[in-house]
Amino acid sequence: MWGGRFAAGPAAIMEEINVSIDFDKRLAAQDLAGSRAHAQMLVAKGILSQEDGTAIARGLDQVAAEIEAGRFTFRRELEDIHLNVESRLAELIGPAAGRLHTGRSRNDQVATDFRLWVREACDHAGERLTLLQRALLAQAEAHAETIMPGFTHMQPAQPVSFAHHCLAYVEMFARDRGRFADARKRMNESPLGSAALAGTPYPIDRQMTAQALGFDRPMRNSMDAVSARDFALEYLAAASIAATHLSRLAEEIVLWAAPAYGFIKLSDAFTTGSSIMPQKRNPDAAELVRAKTGRILGSFVALSTVMKGLALAYAKDLQEDKEAVFQAADALDLALAAMAGMAADLKPQPQNMRRAAEAGYPTATDLADFIVTTLKKPFREAHHSAGAIVKLAEEKGVALADLPLSAMQTVEPGLTDKVFAVLKLESSLHARTSEGGTAPARVREQIAFWRKELA
Ligand code: ARG
Repeated sequence: MWGGRFAAGPAAIMEEINVSIDFDKRLAAQDLAGSRAHAQMLVAKGILSQEDGTAIARGLDQVAAEIEAGRFTFRRELEDIHLNVESRLAELIGPAAGRLHTGRSRNDQVATDFRLWVREACDHAGERLTLLQRALLAQAEAHAETIMPGFTHMQPAQPVSFAHHCLAYVEMFARDRGRFADARKRMNESPLGSAALAGTPYPIDRQMTAQALGFDRPMRNSMDAVSARDFALEYLAAASIAATHLSRLAEEIVLWAAPAYGFIKLSDAFTTGSSIMPQKRNPDAAELVRAKTGRILGSFVALSTVMKGLALAYAKDLQEDKEAVFQAADALDLALAAMAGMAADLKPQPQNMRRAAEAGYPTATDLADFIVTTLKKPFREAHHSAGAIVKLAEEKGVALADLPLSAMQTVEPGLTDKVFAVLKLESSLHARTSEGGTAPARVREQIAFWRKELA
């Protein structure tokens, strides 16, 4: 394809390091779409004859059919997807195939193909995130009154509902969707027609090809167009952040499913057994979701390292962009699907959540607040008294609500039996009515919002 001034073929090791067809065949559909748009434009502008245009279009359709049917032979000696398609086209339609590359270069071709691929990956990630959000919302809908300990420092802090906890992740995944959508908007400009780097003397119409490929407009600068990969970095950055959210949820699922917590049960569908310990039910899917984050973040680091210090315009370094993105996209796709499955599958265990909540004296803040409002004490003093009362309960081995009033009065003589109303987990939960709080009424507002949003 490019051997005019070469006397000998490449060394075997040259072919080995140069070849990209093994992975860039994943760009086949995008490459064909780009070629179709380019050929149509060449005909419209009178650069290519109608007959050649028709032959090319038909040939490209046949190549597409062969690839789809798995009948296409990808040849490593043809380097990449672009040359594989063009070479097969030549076999199918003869010399007219050689006119397809008029006014374009593999540099704008690959930049276009890859943008199209990443654009789709953004949409796909958005869809997968939505499915995960729906699964979490369904759990929330059933558990606005299910009390669990809310933690800080992994210490039981205050009672929250399981719904509130699930909806916190729905929020994170919404922002992740926003990041993919923003990235998509910014990347949706066409590099096609920038040719090698400087543009082309042919009277091409870049608006036309941009439109045919669903881009908002052509990129303004041909050198930027062939060398920019920040669109891929943005995808990887959004994927990395989403993966950190997935990993946090995965970690919680691992903890919650552990017998020591017992907050949830995972079904056989998302667990594995041990080959030696028959009693085990391991949360492997959650663990693997947690681990995939490494791969995804690694891809971001890999590609940003490739890009740093790269002089304009195209250099073969840029061929390394694809595997990083493919690897991250595959991992993200799997992680999102597995997490959506687990989120739908997990069965909360309200009694165990409640027991853990009670054990942690999580209404101590409510007691302090009660002392502030009824005994008109400054919060700092009330905090001290509530701490002393918790200590008494701890010594007696009872929950705060089960400590006799007389014991509490040794610390705060002014306390009356009205205090018991605030020491219950339920009253603590229902009291947190501030905007965004865990009170069931507030949580139901969140649920109503997301039900509409995710419909
Ligand atoms: N396989 C190449 C890549 O992925 C296509 C572009 C090659 N361009 C070139 N001038 N050698 O980047």
